[in-house]
Amino acid sequence: MDMLDKGTEDLLEEHGKPRREVYLDSENSGLIFPEALDEMVKYYLELGYGHPSITHKVGWEAYEALIKVSKLLSSFIGCKPDEIHYLHSGTEANNVAILGLAKAYKGRRKILVSSIEHLSVIYPAESLRNFGFKVVKIPVDGEGFLDLDAFSSLIDSDTLLVSVGLVNHEIGTIQDVKGIVEIVKDKDEQILFHSDASDALGKLKFNLSDLGVDLATFSSHKVYGPKGAAALYIREGVKVEPILFGQLSTQRLWPGVENIPAIAGFGKAVEIMYNNFDKFHSKLKTFRDRLIDGIFENVDHVFLNGPKGEKRAPDNVNISFLYCEGEAITVELSLRGIYVSSGSACTSRILQPSHVLIAIGRKYEAAHGSILMKVAPMHSIEDVNYVLSQLPQAINRLRSISPLKP
Ligand SMILES: Cc1ncc(COP(=O)(O)O)c(C=O)c1O
Repeated sequence: MDMLDKGTEDLLEEHGKPRREVYLDSENSGLIFPEALDEMVKYYLELGYGHPSITHKVGWEAYEALIKVSKLLSSFIGCKPDEIHYLHSGTEANNVAILGLAKAYKGRRKILVSSIEHLSVIYPAESLRNFGFKVVKIPVDGEGFLDLDAFSSLIDSDTLLVSVGLVNHEIGTIQDVKGIVEIVKDKDEQILFHSDASDALGKLKFNLSDLGVDLATFSSHKVYGPKGAAALYIREGVKVEPILFGQLSTQRLWPGVENIPAIAGFGKAVEIMYNNFDKFHSKLKTFRDRLIDGIFENVDHVFLNGPKGEKRAPDNVNISFLYCEGEAITVELSLRGIYVSSGSACTSRILQPSHVLIAIGRKYEAAHGSILMKVAPMHSIEDVNYVLSQLPQAINRLRSISPLKP
């Protein structure tokens, strides 16, 4: 029987309980800081169960929670508190940004998105083709950096919007968004710029007004907060039409009752990340590099996806293992208590190679044999060492039974 056809329960029984469990899949679903969870529970039980639009004590408490988080978040990312709009997820924030701008600005019809954007940017942009928009993907080089000459030649008087993420979620490329915004605005001040900064929040230091972007997306679980909350920065003066409608909310783009406890937990997670920035940043980089170096020392036929060093997100490890299937690696590692995602985190249940890896020029075999691991502040060096003790064995075993051979 094919290993992938077996239920995990059966396999676990066969292999016994793993010695340690290490969750490295914060790309798909982030770990949560215990303090962020406590904050969320506190707001569920005491301060945030009211509706922030309602004029009674419980409503005012909920409203105050919202304002408190906006002030905190804006102080870390360099914007005004009322330029922050809450939504339910990064996916929703990206959809609202792109579709909401297209609704608000009539006339221009061209949207440029980098070819390695998260699918929650690419898909809403592509959906606008049905409404007469032209969507063009900006090419990137082998490490995921925008091809600036090609990009420059794509900008014209019909361009409404450019969307380029600050940190790529799959290969960790840190894009020079400030420089890219300058290219755009030098050509035409009216072109709007959106950046999905979901993977940058708390992991990089940046200032929105310094970057010059008009809109930016942030997601709570990507910064070890609870799921169910996200933020969209919209620079004052930029118009975004709602795409969801309902009743009663303090948030124009979030119809219905706001998830105040999740927003409070989001705020707490951001606060923890920024208050410990230097400590966490150097810890993440140390763990990232120890994993990358350890894998390269102990496993043949591997290569790194994305750049090395300072231009790589501190938490990102994405490696292709030739002569292995990414999904088989996730199952084999899972049996050893190590949880990672394959190819593309977002497409790992459908066997399609990651569009990001294809865009940086990886062949199908390499894209299929890749795994993505994200280290987090709650990991320990013992976790990293455990992964390094198991991963070479896992790859050797899979290669020994694989029809694909060097
Ligand atoms: C860069 C990026 N943007 C957007 C999203 C979507 O965020 P959410 O999971 O909150 O919908 C993710 C999720 O992993 C992401 O990595």
